[in-house]
Amino acid sequence: MRLTDNPAFAKLQAHQAELEAQSLPALLQDSDRQQALSLSLDDLCVDLSRHKITEETLALFAEMAEAADLKGQFEQLFAGEVMNHTEGRPVLHMQARTAETLQGDEGRKIAIFTDIIRGDKSVKDVVNIGIGGSDLGPAMVTQALAPYHDGPQLHFVSNVDPSHLHDVLAKCTPERTQFIVTSKTFTTQETMANAALARQWLVNAGCAPDRQFAAVSAAPDKAEAWGVEPDRIFGFADGIGGRYSLWSAVGLPIMIAVGTTRFYEMLKGAFDMDTHVRTAPARQNLPMMLGALRVFYRNIHHKSAYGIMAYDQRLKDFTRWAQQTEMESNGKSVDRDGRKLDYFTSPIIWGEAGTGCQHSFFQALHQEADICPLDILVPLRPVPLYRDPAWQKSHKMLVINALAQAEAFASGKDSPEEPHRQFDGGRPVTFMSWDATTPYALGRLLALYEHITIASGFLWHVNSFDQFGVELGKEMAHALAAVGEGGAMPSHFSQSAAVLLAALKDAGTDS
Ligand code: F6P
Repeated sequence: MRLTDNPAFAKLQAHQAELEAQSLPALLQDSDRQQALSLSLDDLCVDLSRHKITEETLALFAEMAEAADLKGQFEQLFAGEVMNHTEGRPVLHMQARTAETLQGDEGRKIAIFTDIIRGDKSVKDVVNIGIGGSDLGPAMVTQALAPYHDGPQLHFVSNVDPSHLHDVLAKCTPERTQFIVTSKTFTTQETMANAALARQWLVNAGCAPDRQFAAVSAAPDKAEAWGVEPDRIFGFADGIGGRYSLWSAVGLPIMIAVGTTRFYEMLKGAFDMDTHVRTAPARQNLPMMLGALRVFYRNIHHKSAYGIMAYDQRLKDFTRWAQQTEMESNGKSVDRDGRKLDYFTSPIIWGEAGTGCQHSFFQALHQEADICPLDILVPLRPVPLYRDPAWQKSHKMLVINALAQAEAFASGKDSPEEPHRQFDGGRPVTFMSWDATTPYALGRLLALYEHITIASGFLWHVNSFDQFGVELGKEMAHALAAVGEGGAMPSHFSQSAAVLLAALKDAGTDS
C-alpha cells in the first residue's frame, strides 16, 4: 500500500493541523509525558517526549503500521519470501544471526579460520579491503567493540585513492600481515584495485601471497579465479544485501578482533530485536514506531534531513553505517510496483559523535529557522567500568551533555532583550539510552536501525533491498577508464568530461 493510500496517513495529516497550535516547551511541563511517550526493550529506552506529539500521534502511528500490515510484511521477510522483487531474491540477513546458521558448515568454517588467525602469533595486522557494506559495518563494529579486542590489530581500506592503502601499509610488516578481500560481487572496482596493490606489496617483499589472502564473497568462484585458496574463501547467501551483511561472513574482521564468543553475543542482541519486531504490538514496537516517526518528519513536516548523534566516541562511525543502511535502502522514487511516487522517501541521514558536534554545527541546529529532527544516543555506563572516580565522572559528563542538548533543543530559552541569545525550543529529539555498549547491546541497536529502515520502507512502499541508483556512476567510470586507456570518447559524455580527461592525460606523475 502506498503511503498516500494509507487511511491513517490522512488522519495523521489532519491531526498535525491540531498539533500545530501546541507548543513543545508547554507540552513538556506535563509530568506524565516522559512515561507516556517512552518505549523500551529491557535496558534500551527510547524517549519520544521531546517531539511535538501526543499519545494520539503514537496511536495513529500504530494505526498506520497496522493498515500497511507491517507485521505481515515482516513475517514474509522472516519466512524468506521474495521481498526484493526487482532482483527476484529473498532478504536473508536475519537468518545469519540464528543459531542454525552459526552451527552450519560455513559458520563452523569461519569460526575455525578465526581461531587459526587469532592463535597465529606471527599475524600482527589484519587488513580488510572492501567498500560500502563490505567496509562500513565491520569497521564501525570493530571500533565500537574496541574494549573487547584481544586479537591482532585490524585495519580497513576502502577508498581507491591509493593514499588510503598506502597509509595503512605504512603501519604493517609484509610477513606479518593478513589480508581479507571482502566483496559480495568480487568485481567492485575500488576493492579489486586495492587488492591487486596489496598483493603486489607482498610479492615485492618476497612473501607468498597465497597464504596471506582470505576472501569473503557471495561469488566464491570469482575469488578463487583471482587467486585466493578455496579453504580461505568464505561465502554468504546472495539474499544478504551488502549493507545488511555484517552479521554474515562479512563480519570476519570483527570475529578476528574480538573472537567468536563476543561476535555471537552481538548476534544474540540482534536476534532479540528480531523477536521484538515480530512479536511486539505496533504501539510498543520500537522499529515500527520509529519507522513511522521517519515518515512523520519526511512527509508531514517535509523535512529532508535527519540527524543521528551518538554520544559514544567508539560509535563515531555509527551514523555513516546508518546512512548507507537508510539512504541506499529507501532513497527511491518509484514504488515496489515500479510506479512513480508522488511523495519523498529517505531523508538525508547525517551526524557525528557527541560532544564534538556541540562545538561546531549544533549552533545551526539550535538557532537556524529550519529545524532538523535528531536521534541522540547514549550509553549510561562506560565500557570498561573505569575504577578511577575521575574517569567515571567524565562519562557522567558525557551523558549529562547529551541530556542537556536534548533539553535545550526541546525547551529552548526566551531572551526578549537580546534576540541573538533567543532559543525558540520546539526542536525534536529522540533520546535513546541503554546500559553499556556491550556486544549484545550493540547488536540490538544495529538491528533496531535496520528494522527502522525496513519499517519505513514498507510504509513508503518501496523496495528497500535493491540499489540500482549506484549503477550509472559505476558504468560511467568504466567507460571513462576505457577512454583513458586509448578508447574513443562515447557520445553521451559531455564536453566538460573530455576537458578533464585531457587534463588527466597531461598530468605528470612526479611530484
Ligand atoms: O556500489 C554500492 C555497493 O554495491 C553497495 O551496495 C555495496 O555494499 C558496495 O557497493 C560494495 O559491493 P561489493 O561488496 O560487491 O564489493
